[in-house]
Amino acid sequence: MSAAVIANGLVHAFGSGAARSPVLQGLSAEFMPGEVSLVMGASGSGKSTLLAAIGGLLRPDRGEVRIAGTALWSLTARSLERFRYQHCGYIFQGFNLFPALTALDQVALPLRFGGIAKNTAKARAEASLAEVGLEARLHLRPAELSGGEKQRVAIARALVTRPQVLFADEPTSALDSLNGTAVIALLQDIARALGTTVIVVTHDARLIRHAERVLQIDNGRIISDERISRTSMAIEKAA
Ligand SMILES: Nc1ncnc2c1ncn2[C@@H]1O[C@H](COP(=O)(O)OP(=O)(O)OP(=O)(O)O)[C@@H](O)[C@H]1O
Ligand SMILES: [Mg+2]
Repeated sequence: MSAAVIANGLVHAFGSGAARSPVLQGLSAEFMPGEVSLVMGASGSGKSTLLAAIGGLLRPDRGEVRIAGTALWSLTARSLERFRYQHCGYIFQGFNLFPALTALDQVALPLRFGGIAKNTAKARAEASLAEVGLEARLHLRPAELSGGEKQRVAIARALVTRPQVLFADEPTSALDSLNGTAVIALLQDIARALGTTVIVVTHDARLIRHAERVLQIDNGRIISDERISRTSMAIEKAA
C-alpha cells in the first residue's frame, strides 16, 4: 500500500534574528491509510508544529507535504483551503465546539459551509453522530455533554466530510482515562473501517495499544519509528 501523506524535508523556525529557534529540522515521514500513527515526544519538541505543517495549517519554511499526491504547499491559499475541506479532518484537545449549537448543528456546519442543502446536511450529520455512538445526544449543547461526548461530537464533525486524513492534536488530554481510551479506540475503528490515515499527536503512552505505529520526535527530528504488530502486539522496528 502506498503512503497517503508524505512529508519531505520539513524545516521550520519561529521568531526572528537572534531569537529565531529551529523547531522542525529537516523532518521527513510517511503515513499509511487505514492506520493510526502516534507522534510522541517531550513538550516543545515540535509535535504540534509538525502536525500543523502536514495538515496544511502552517506553512513550513522549507520542505513539502503531499496528501493523496497533491503538494500542499505549492497550492494557492484558496486551493489549499478547498483541499483541506475535501481531504482533511481536524480534532483538537479543547474540542473547539460552538457553545450555542446543538451536536447536530455542530456536525452539520462543515457541510453547510461546503454548500450542501440543510436537510441533506442534517441527515448526514445525524449518521455521523450515530457512528460515534451519540444518536441519543443530537439536540444537546456542549454544556450538556460530558468531555468524552464533546470529543465524540468533534470527531463526528471531522468525519462528516469523509476526509482521507484525520489530524488530531492531543485529542485525549482533556479526558479521563476511560474516555481517552474510548476516543482512541474510536479513531482506530475509523481508520480500519474507512481506510482513513489517522495522525495523532499525544503525550499519553496508554494510547500505544490502539495504534499501528509510534514515531518519537525530539528537537524537530524523528528519533524513532516503530511499528506495532497487530498479532503479537510486539513492537518491531519499522522497515
Ligand atoms: N506560534 C509560535 N510562535 C513562536 N514560537 C512557537 C510558536 N508555536 C510554537 N513555538 C515554539 O516552538 C517549539 C515547539 O512547539 P510545539 O507546539 O510544536 O511543541 P509540542 O511538541 O507540540 O509541545 P507540547 O507537547 O507542549 O504541546 C516550542 O519551543 C514553542 O515555544
Ligand atoms: Mg503541542
